[in-house]
Amino acid sequence: MIIINTKNYEDMSRKAANILSAQVILKHNCVLGLATGSTVEGIYKQLIMMNQNGDVDFSGVRSVNLDEYVGLAGDHNQSYRYFMDTNLFNQINIHIDNTNVPDGMAADIEAECIRYENLIKELGGIDLQLLGLGHNGHIGFNEPDDYFPLLTHRVQLKESTIKANSRFFENEDQVPREAITMGIKSIMQAKRILLCVSGEAKAEILKKVLSGPVTPEVPGSILQLHPNLTVVADEAALSRF
Ligand code: F6R
Repeated sequence: MIIINTKNYEDMSRKAANILSAQVILKHNCVLGLATGSTVEGIYKQLIMMNQNGDVDFSGVRSVNLDEYVGLAGDHNQSYRYFMDTNLFNQINIHIDNTNVPDGMAADIEAECIRYENLIKELGGIDLQLLGLGHNGHIGFNEPDDYFPLLTHRVQLKESTIKANSRFFENEDQVPREAITMGIKSIMQAKRILLCVSGEAKAEILKKVLSGPVTPEVPGSILQLHPNLTVVADEAALSRF
């Protein structure tokens, strides 16, 4: 495990974007596993600048996103497809057909989970998976539980996640209660993982994730077992070490 200690959110975003862009430069047709949320917004802004400056070319890149809310269409402004389109894909030269987000409107959600898992396999697996960290230790939407869910699956969101994510909706009632998420095995099979964490509010959980017991009650703790994990976190997030 490599831990990169950065000054603040901006610095974390630049360093993480450099790692992602190095991956794309080294393998132009790589498969990037992508995430949504506040942590990655700054990283995507950096990638857009790098692309516009001609420093990184996304034309060969394929992407798979970690998760999507069940019941939100891709054009709903809180869907993760919409987030990716507006915060990254529409502003870089990736081919939109090469981008993948689970379909939260699929008539058969279980079949969609199987399709998505097969898609990751057909793409040849994930070269670099970007992850944020939930306040309860979730990665993707793998919520604390008494077992590690392995493959892409439908998940009931925990109250704490619904509360945390309600900041993006008009009120808490509008936050979907279910999501599709890649599983722990789907994530752990990525060749390389980049976990990004910012802010004092995540310091306690980051300490548990990186140095506590490996347990499904803290889903991110499984990352300790990944052979190629890079953590980019700011001083505030690393303040409990
Ligand atoms: C989003 C995702 C989540 C977020 C996590 C942190 O695709 O998979 O695990 O990474 O909830 O969210 P932020 O960055 O908004 O604190």
